[in-house]
Amino acid sequence: MSQKCKTAYITTPIYYVNDVPHIGHAYTTIIADTLARYSRLIGMETLFLTGTDEHGQKIQEAAEKRGKQPQEYADEISAKFRDLWDYFDISYDKFIRTTDEKHIKGVQKAFEVMYEKGDIYKDNYEGFYCVSCETFFTKTQLVDNEFCPDCGKPTTIVKEESYFFRLSKYEERLLEWYADKEKCVLPKAKKNEVINFVKQGLHDLSITRTSFDWGVKLPASLNDPKHVMYVWLDALMNYITALGYGTDEKEMYFWPATVHLVGKDILRFHAIYWPAFLMSLGLELPKHIGAHGWWTRNGEKMSKSKGNVVDPREVADAYGLENFRYFMLREVPFGQDGDFSQKALIDRINSDLSNDLGNLLNRIIGMSGKYNDFVISSENVMKFHRQEIEATDAIIEKLPAYIYDLQLNRYLEELWKVLTIANQAIATHEPWVKIKEGKKEEAMALVALVANLLAKVSVMLSPVMPKTCQTISEALGFVIDTQNYEKLILDKALLETFTIQKVPPLFPKIEEELLKSEPPRVEKESPKKEKPKEEDGLITIDQFFQTKLKIGTILEAEEVPKSDRLLKLKVDLGEETPRQIIAGIKEYYKPEELVGTQVCVVANLKPAKIMGHLSQCMLLAAKDKNGLSLMRPESPKESGTPVG
Ligand code: ME8
Repeated sequence: MSQKCKTAYITTPIYYVNDVPHIGHAYTTIIADTLARYSRLIGMETLFLTGTDEHGQKIQEAAEKRGKQPQEYADEISAKFRDLWDYFDISYDKFIRTTDEKHIKGVQKAFEVMYEKGDIYKDNYEGFYCVSCETFFTKTQLVDNEFCPDCGKPTTIVKEESYFFRLSKYEERLLEWYADKEKCVLPKAKKNEVINFVKQGLHDLSITRTSFDWGVKLPASLNDPKHVMYVWLDALMNYITALGYGTDEKEMYFWPATVHLVGKDILRFHAIYWPAFLMSLGLELPKHIGAHGWWTRNGEKMSKSKGNVVDPREVADAYGLENFRYFMLREVPFGQDGDFSQKALIDRINSDLSNDLGNLLNRIIGMSGKYNDFVISSENVMKFHRQEIEATDAIIEKLPAYIYDLQLNRYLEELWKVLTIANQAIATHEPWVKIKEGKKEEAMALVALVANLLAKVSVMLSPVMPKTCQTISEALGFVIDTQNYEKLILDKALLETFTIQKVPPLFPKIEEELLKSEPPRVEKESPKKEKPKEEDGLITIDQFFQTKLKIGTILEAEEVPKSDRLLKLKVDLGEETPRQIIAGIKEYYKPEELVGTQVCVVANLKPAKIMGHLSQCMLLAAKDKNGLSLMRPESPKESGTPVG
């Protein structure tokens, strides 16, 4: 993304239309939007692509479940993504759908090219498939011979004729690429994971399916109508079909991509399969693939069954879209997981935004109005404040490097150092005292210093908070554009004069949590709160309700091989998939007498492995000298009924 290359091509993953947009989608898209806005600011011709991934077994099944045709269903959900991005003012240039005719033609062309090159052959596939992740697995990769190692859901056995891509052929070239291009995959820790995976050896990849038909058909030249393409082959190609690959090729000059932004769960597809496909097609490889971490809520993984999925629109409505953008980018180092809590968001708004940024603008408005009728000249800044200008220029000079490395939290952290210098300068130089002492020239030099620092900050912050920075620039009387970026940032110049406009406070303080859908918070220990005394052993009702007890129905029960104590149970908690529980009750119950009975379980225990088997919750039981009894409801209850 250096200015030497004049084009920037930024992409988000294309989102599956099996579900409505959530905070994870918003996060990737906001990072991509920031990079695209930054690229435009520094004068690059920019193409920002997002879209929806609409084919495959998962979408077909999701549509069937709702009694809809896949296309009708995809149209509906794709529109929801588009609406959200429009509502969020996401500056995408193109929105691709994998059901677009142009995309389909492009994918078929790519398949033909790879086939003609000898990189695709026909064989039979036998293995395991996770529909939720749309991923093939070998038996050794599964957890407990059954569950998806990525999402934990049960896999299905697939045995069908399939075309294969010779992924193994590209192993060496991929390793060379990782070695040659230090920043091809970011962050470094994630790149190392990819390298280790490839070093273990790559198997050829099944790239067509025959057991369902919701996908791109093979090119007519292959005359094999029962196959549809594997959804990941179809989906990854979007990055070039959007530029016209295989059709008009009009915008292929944007290739290679500057940054593909992805979540860590889909890095393998992007950092292994995708470059291998591109090598096969004879195309250049992307410059950067950046993998971000996952968002949890109040420390817990988000899931529909827990009812704790963050709706990005609701957060933006409650706290302000740009405050939310700032929070997401500032709160978490790129690549690491982050926790969404209203408290953390409110803290960021009240402290970073309101205290550090908003107050600075208020003070400039106040001081300039009081001391000089809202007019500020920079003529004496260097005479009195050379040191502050040099210190802040040194900080700002380094900012672009953080953007290139996707370290947006560092970028913002550094930018805030400029605000700290500005706020400290006011405290140190006390312009109100200078005015009283008749030193107006000095007082106004200070006001001009902080006005210039705020102007520079607003230019560099504008990709993250575009509307807020536009308001700041209007208040200061200048425009944020490439010309002023070059003047204030590259040339380190000052704005000669400012004519200040009054604006209402940018960030009114927020005192209370505003989300309606907030699930009960699991309070962290706070020193102010009285802890229950150990000697009386009492807990509060809130502490009790931190434990989620539920009624479950045992669907399956079997002995754990080589264990005297353990049984493996599948228990229905009214969720999409049953939970697996490893329970030490073999001495007291026979598997067959448990099936169909109900139990009481602790549903929010961290999953653990017991003798190599995943256990996702715990049974409640009472044991005395007469033996052990499971806790059960007095009369049958619906699976998943809360206890408490
Ligand atoms: O994977 N926090 O689509 P998708 C952060 N169609 N990011 C999250 C998240 C969370 N809690 N949950 C999901 C697909 N994501 C494919 C992509 S690209 C050629 C095809 C992120 O809708 C996840 O990491 O399941 C991924 O990057 C993105 O949401 C899209 O997920």
